[in-house]
Amino acid sequence: MTILRDGDDMNDLLGRDVLTLGEFTPELLQFFLQRVSVQKRMASTAASASKPLAGRSIAIIMLKPSLRTRVSFEIAVTRLGGTPVLLIGEGSAFSRGESVKDTVKVLERYVDAIVLRTYEQSHIEEVAEHASVPVINALTDDYHPCQVLADLVTISEHKGRTAGLRAAYFGDGNNMANTLMIGAALSGMDLTVSCPTGFDPLPSALARAEEIAQSTGSRLTIERDPRIAAAGADVIITDTWASMGQEGEHDERARQFAPYQVNADLMAQAAPGALFLHCLPAHRGEEVTDEVIDSAASVVYDEAENRLHAQKALLTMVMG
Ligand code: CP
Ligand code: NVA
Repeated sequence: MTILRDGDDMNDLLGRDVLTLGEFTPELLQFFLQRVSVQKRMASTAASASKPLAGRSIAIIMLKPSLRTRVSFEIAVTRLGGTPVLLIGEGSAFSRGESVKDTVKVLERYVDAIVLRTYEQSHIEEVAEHASVPVINALTDDYHPCQVLADLVTISEHKGRTAGLRAAYFGDGNNMANTLMIGAALSGMDLTVSCPTGFDPLPSALARAEEIAQSTGSRLTIERDPRIAAAGADVIITDTWASMGQEGEHDERARQFAPYQVNADLMAQAAPGALFLHCLPAHRGEEVTDEVIDSAASVVYDEAENRLHAQKALLTMVMG
């Protein structure tokens, strides 16, 4: 594997949007992972005083609630020397009937990038279409690329690699499942998504993942039986059964997803030393039990911390 250094001309992401993670190539992902690793090692040295975003402003627009994404982006931008401009809640942007075009065309006169958490993927696509500055997806109904980048950092740190590992995701074929398929393909990891009928990941996400997997050899599978999916897995992942905006469906979903709960019995099917990941917030007693999320297998707090490191690396790749 080529060892890439800061300044090496391998950064095809400069000035581009990151809306799904499908913008990455396997080579770019390796570049990203190395950059995170270097940044973390340098954090306590003089090199951390470098401020690549000095004099630049980044809008962080959150139309859904957030703890991790909002705080980690705000701190990432600040540590890189930039100025985060927070627009939080429905009253802050895109909610007064002003067209997306007018909102974006005004915003980009002030800021150098837009980080956006919203509902429909078509909304962030429309923002990106009008924006001349890069747009980064901070979660939509369909994708959560910043989270999956942090997940790949976490797996790589704890397992020493990603290629050749077997991961299994349990529950809803939601924004995390869609993005994990692409992330697994990029990183050379196999991924089995175990979900009930009617809750499969998006066909378009699977298609992009399969396209990438042609060069990395990852295998992407849907498996209805959670015990078969967990058998021998190196990484076990789950997410909420009712995502933001689906709260009204919670009880019906809880009934349908109950067989996909990650509990000690399911973890016992996995490979020895298997990791447990969850993007958080977790609903303890629903998609995961206390005994799993509080076990030695669980790396959920490292995963949350890595949001900060991953987004620092992503911002420098997108913004230079
Ligand atoms: N995992 C994640 O995106 O958390 P927040 O919703 O708190 O940002
Ligand atoms: N699937 C969850 C992820 C939260 C970080 C949601 O969209 O609510």
